[in-house]
Amino acid sequence: MKLWGGRYDVDVDELMERFNASLPFDHRLWEADIEGSRAWAEGLHRAGLLTAEELETLLRGLDHVADEWRSGRFEVKPSDEDIHTAVERRLHELVGEVAGKLHTGRSRNDQVATDERLYLRAELDRLDAGLRELQAALVEQAERHVELIMPGYTHLQQAQPIRYGHWVLSYFWMFQRDRERLADARKRVNVLPLGAGALAGHSLGVDRRFLAERLGFDAVSPNSLDAVGDRDVLLEVLSWAAILGVHASRLAEDLILYASREFGFVRLDPRYTTGSSLMPQKANPDALELTRGKSGRLIGNLVALLVVLKGLPSAYNKDLQEDKEPLFDTLDTLRLLLPVLTGVVSTLQPQPERMRAALDTATLATDLADYLVRRGVPFRRAHHLVGRAVAEAERRGLPLHRLPLEAFRAISPLFEADLYEVFDAEQAVNARASEGGTADAALRAQIEAARRVLAGK
Ligand code: ARG
Repeated sequence: MKLWGGRYDVDVDELMERFNASLPFDHRLWEADIEGSRAWAEGLHRAGLLTAEELETLLRGLDHVADEWRSGRFEVKPSDEDIHTAVERRLHELVGEVAGKLHTGRSRNDQVATDERLYLRAELDRLDAGLRELQAALVEQAERHVELIMPGYTHLQQAQPIRYGHWVLSYFWMFQRDRERLADARKRVNVLPLGAGALAGHSLGVDRRFLAERLGFDAVSPNSLDAVGDRDVLLEVLSWAAILGVHASRLAEDLILYASREFGFVRLDPRYTTGSSLMPQKANPDALELTRGKSGRLIGNLVALLVVLKGLPSAYNKDLQEDKEPLFDTLDTLRLLLPVLTGVVSTLQPQPERMRAALDTATLATDLADYLVRRGVPFRRAHHLVGRAVAEAERRGLPLHRLPLEAFRAISPLFEADLYEVFDAEQAVNARASEGGTADAALRAQIEAARRVLAGK
C-alpha cells in the first residue's frame, strides 16, 4: 500500500514507479531523515499529540530502523518510493499503528528540505576541513622552499622572476576565499524548513523554535512556501564547489605544465602518477588531469540544478527531486579530489636547477628600465630604450645580460657599467618589497598571515 494510496483504486504503472523513485539515490539521507523524525516526534509530544508512551515507542522504533540502515540490513521494498516512505513503512512494520502518528502535520516537502540541510551541514564541515588540509599543505610547501626562485609568467610567457613559494601561496588565498564563501553559504544552509508542512505551515501547534534548537539550526524559515519550494542554498553550494573546482583545475594545469619534461620545474610523487599501457617511459599526471577534468562535472552539476529550478511555479514541484544527484555527485567528487590534491601538493619536489636554467635574463628588463628611471628617465621612455636593447640582443643572438656595454650606451649614454648588477634575479625579487610582493620579507610575512588564517586568528 502506498502512503498516499487512499484515493487510488489502481496501481501506478511499473515503469512510472521506477521513474518516480528517488530511493536509489536518496537513501544516503537515512540518518538525517531519522534525526528529523525524532525531533518531529518530540515536537508532537510537546504539542500534546503523542503520549509519552507513544513517543517512546516511536523513538525506539526509529532507533531500530537506524540500526538496520547503519548495519546494511535494511531491506528495501519495491513500494519504497524514497527514503521518507521507506523509513516510515519499516517503522510501521516494527511498531504498528502508532507509526501512523509520526507524519501528523508534516509533509515530505518540509521533510526532504530538512533532511538535505542536515546532511549538507555535516558534509560541508567535512569538506571545509579537507580544504583546510590542502591549504596547510600549500603553506608547508611554500615555507620549505622560501629561497627558491622561478620564472613568473603572464600569457604563459616569462614575465618577471618570482619566488616559488609565492606562486604556491597564490593558491592558498584562492582556497581561502573558497572557505569564506563556504562559511557564508553554511549560514543559509542552517535554517530550518521543518514545520512548513506541504506549503502552508501546520495547524497542530508544534513549536518550530524547539525543532530548530533540537536539530541545531540557527533560525526557522520565515515563509512556508519559500521553505519547501526553493533550493537556492543548494545552488550556492554547487556554485561554491564549481568555483573551488576551477581553482583546483588551474593549480592542476600549472603543475601539469611544470611537471612536463620541457619545464621540469617540479617532480610529482609516483603515488600520484600512472604509467602507460603502451609506452614504458611514461608517468602521466593523472591525479592532476582528473582534478582539471572534474571541474567540468562540478560546473555541470551547478548548471543542471539552475536549469531545473528556472521557471518552476511556486512551492514544491517534483522537479525538485532532481536536486539530489547533482548535489551528491559534487560532494562525492570533492570528497576524493581534495585529499588527492593535498597529497600531490605535499609530495611535490621542486627542481631548483631547472628553474634557474629556464629563467631568461630578459625577465629583468623591467628592472633595467627602473635603473634608467632612477637616473631621471621617465618610465615610458626607459621602457622604450630597454625594449631597443632587448631587440639588439635578440638580433645578435645574445641573452640580454651578455649585450656589451657599448651597445647599451649606443642606445642611451645613461647606461653605465653598473647596469649589469641589475641581472640578479634574487635582487629583483627582493626589490619587490611591497606588501603581497615577492621579496623575502614579504613572502615570510605572507606565510605568517597564512598561518594565522589557518589557526583561525
Ligand atoms: N523524494 C521527494 C524529493 O526528493 C520527496 C518529496 C516528495 N514530495 C511530494 N509531494 N511528492 O523531492
